[in-house]
Order: sequence, then C-alpha cells, then structure tokens
Amino acid sequence: MAHIIDGKAISARIREEVKQAVADRSAAGHRAPYLAVVLVGDDPASASYVRGKAKASAEVGIESDTLTYDVSISEEELLDVVHRLNSDDSVDGILVQLPLPDHIDDRKVIDAISPAKDVDCFHPASVGNLVIGLDGFKPATPAGIVELLQRSGVQTSGAHCVIIGRSNIVGKPLANLMLNKGVDATVTVCHSRTKDLPAIARQADILVAAIGRANFVTADMVKPGAVVIDVGINRVEDATRERGYRLVGDVDFEAVAPIASLITPVPGGVGPMTIAVLLQNTLLAASTS
Ligand code: GUN
Repeated sequence: MAHIIDGKAISARIREEVKQAVADRSAAGHRAPYLAVVLVGDDPASASYVRGKAKASAEVGIESDTLTYDVSISEEELLDVVHRLNSDDSVDGILVQLPLPDHIDDRKVIDAISPAKDVDCFHPASVGNLVIGLDGFKPATPAGIVELLQRSGVQTSGAHCVIIGRSNIVGKPLANLMLNKGVDATVTVCHSRTKDLPAIARQADILVAAIGRANFVTADMVKPGAVVIDVGINRVEDATRERGYRLVGDVDFEAVAPIASLITPVPGGVGPMTIAVLLQNTLLAASTS
C-alpha cells in the first residue's frame, strides 16, 4: 500500500518558511510584501479561491487587497487597473483571478501584467524564463508538484516522468520544470491524441494525472512502485453527501494506491500547494523589486 503524500503538511511547512523570511525582512527594515488580487464578477468559486489567497497571505505577513469589479467592467477599464498596479511601487505582486468574463480577453490582460509582478507566472516572459531554466517566478501547480516530490524524498534525476495532460497551466509548464537542471527527469507528455496511453503511463516512475476526468487513471496504467501525483479536482454525484457531490481526482485512488509507492490524495494533495507557491512568488517579487 502506498504512502500518502500529505500536501497539507508540506504546504504548511512552506508557508512557515515564507513567514520566517517575511519576518527576517521586516527585522532588516523592509516593508511587508504586498499582493494585489483582482477579482471580476461574482463567481462563487473564484471568490472562494481569492479569499483563501488573502487569508494565507495574511497568515505569513504578506499584505494584500482584493480589488473587486462588477462583471460589466470593460476590457479597457480592466487593462487600466493593471497598468495602474504595474506603476505603483508599493505593489509587489499582481494576480488577476481567472476566468474573466467572456467579453474580456484573458490573454490581453495577462500580457499587460508587468513580468516583474507576475506572481501567477502566466506572462509569456515568465513562461520563457521557465523554459530556459532561469530563476524567477514559478507556476503554482507545477512548482507545487516538484516541491511535493522533492520534500517526499522522491528521486527525480533520471526518473521517467509521464504527464497526462498538456494544459498551459499544468502539463506544459510541469514538463519544463521536470526537465530543468537540478530536477533532471526524462519527460513524456501524453494527451487526448496519444496512441496507447496506458502503455506509456505504465512506463512512468512518476505519473502525473492532469486531465480533468474523474478516475481516468486505473490500476492497469500504473507500474508497481510508481509515484502517482493527482492534479484532478472533479465533482461526482454523491447522494450521501449533504451538498450532493464529492470531490475526486483524475486517479482511481482505491485501485491505484495499493500499487503505487507514494500517492497524493484528493483533496489534500496538490491543491494546498498552489497557494504556498503563490506566497513564495510574492516574497520573491518583494525581494527583487
Ligand atoms: N483560477 C484558478 N486558478 C487560478 C490561479 O492559479 N491563478 C489565477 N489568476 N486564476 C486562477
């Protein structure tokens, strides 16, 4: 039976490290790092994520404000907001919560954020730095996965890491992080057009599932002893729950856990790591400004 990788505990350790670094900066006479979060509209899930980011920031001594705008804000007005934050020296990090309403082009807004304040690591300049292995902001979910692996003692050097999913937020940036010097994995990325995906998945020493389909990874896709990282958060109907659903990952946990050496649960695996990386990035933004 696999050991469980406890994302909550590892995330708590990283948040404690950031808290200490913020306190050290303060003792050396620096002001607190400051994160500006931009939230458009009243999507409950986005509002809940944003509250989580603000709360976690406050807990480590990072100051933040959430600038909330009505769903009717124009693209031009939102770009003006970003430009103002870019030129405000008291703002270290800028995070525009996605998705944005349909009449606003996400890409235009992301591209408008100063790369020096891009704590989401979504700007093309940040992505370019990541690809060529330069230090800088890290993408939240992929960097969270690398932290989970390294802090769990997983040998990544020379390991075959198979990533299922090629999204811009997880699959592609994770492939680059795993490939970079110091992590040194051999990387394969699979997607919806991949031929005989189960056979490739079975070759993985480290298998990462990031496709957004409940219980997609079954036992026959996992090599005995593999490390399995589940990025999925899917709702499945469950009449026994008060809210009518429960959250499951992209991995059939019950079937795969007995085969894997280490596995992340959902929830409580990768999820808690994303905010920890955001805090690391905000600290970095303040340290380099
Ligand atoms: N929406 C869901 N996850 C994220 C995230 O990590 N950053 C931003 N900006 N929006 C999101």
